[in-house]
Amino acid sequence: MSAPSKLLLMLLKIMLLKENSVIPTQLAQDIYHNFREQNKSEHIAGLTTIQLLLNICQAQKPINILELGGGLGTLTKLLLAYSPTEATLDTYEDNLYFQQKLRENLQNYQSKYTLITDYRILPPKRSYDLVIVDGGNGKTGDGGYPDAVWFIISYLQSVKIIYIEGYRCLQRLLIRKALRRRFIYRLQAYAPAGEKKAGGLKIECRLCHSPFIRWINFLFWEIMEWTSVENFIKYRVNRLVKKFKHV
Ligand SMILES: C[S@@+](CC[C@H](N)C(=O)[O-])C[C@H]1O[C@@H](n2cnc3c(N)ncnc32)[C@H](O)[C@@H]1O
Repeated sequence: MSAPSKLLLMLLKIMLLKENSVIPTQLAQDIYHNFREQNKSEHIAGLTTIQLLLNICQAQKPINILELGGGLGTLTKLLLAYSPTEATLDTYEDNLYFQQKLRENLQNYQSKYTLITDYRILPPKRSYDLVIVDGGNGKTGDGGYPDAVWFIISYLQSVKIIYIEGYRCLQRLLIRKALRRRFIYRLQAYAPAGEKKAGGLKIECRLCHSPFIRWINFLFWEIMEWTSVENFIKYRVNRLVKKFKHV
C-alpha cells in the first residue's frame, strides 16, 4: 500500500474507530462492586460496559433484549432494572452453576426473562432492539461453540443495536459476516484510556435491501477493522501449524 493511502487509512481509523471512553457514574460502580463481591465473579462485565448499557437503556429504551452469556447476571439485572417496565430479555447460559446464580440474582424479575440453556437453540424471537454478546464463543469457561453467534445473528430479521463486551475478536468478525446478509451497520469502540481490550464495541444496525450498499458497508468496516481480521488469520494459521507439528 502506498504512503498516501496508508496515511488516509490511518486518519479514517482515528476519526471513525477511535475508542471513546465513558466515565463510570456512582451507579455503575455500585452495580459492578455488588457483583464483583460474589464467587466466580472474575469474568463479569467491566465498568465501561456497565456505564454504556445504562446510557443505552436511557437513550434507546430497548423493549426486546437478547443476551449471550448471562453469567452471574450483572448485565441481565441492569438491563431489566433500567429498561422500560414492559421490556423482556432472553439470555443464553449453558453452565449449570451460572444458571443457578442467574435464577438467584434475578429473583425479582422472574416474569421478565427467559433462560436459554443451550446455544444450539435459536432465540425465541427474530426481532430485538438490543443484543449483548458476553459469552458463547466456545472457549473454556465461555460456553457455546465458535460459530454460535453467527447462527444466532443470521437468524434475526431485525436488530437495532449489538453490544460486544470486551475484545472478542472472532465473535466481532462473525457478527459482521452475519449482519452483511441483511444490514448495514456502524461500529463504535469504547474503552478506558490506554486499555483497548477492556471496553466493548457498539454496532448500530439498519436493514438495507440493496446488496451493493451492504457489500460496500461490509468492505468499509473490514478495512477499518483490519487488525482484528489480521489477528484472526494469524490465530488460525498458528493453530494449523501446531496441529501439523503434532502429526
Ligand atoms: C464473560 S462471562 C459472562 C459474564 C456476565 N455477562 C456478567 O457480567 O455477569 C461468559 C460466560 O463465562 C462463564 N463464566 C463466567 N465466569 C466463569 C468462571 N469463573 N468460570 C467458568 N466459567 C465462567 C459463564 O458460563 C458465562 O456465560
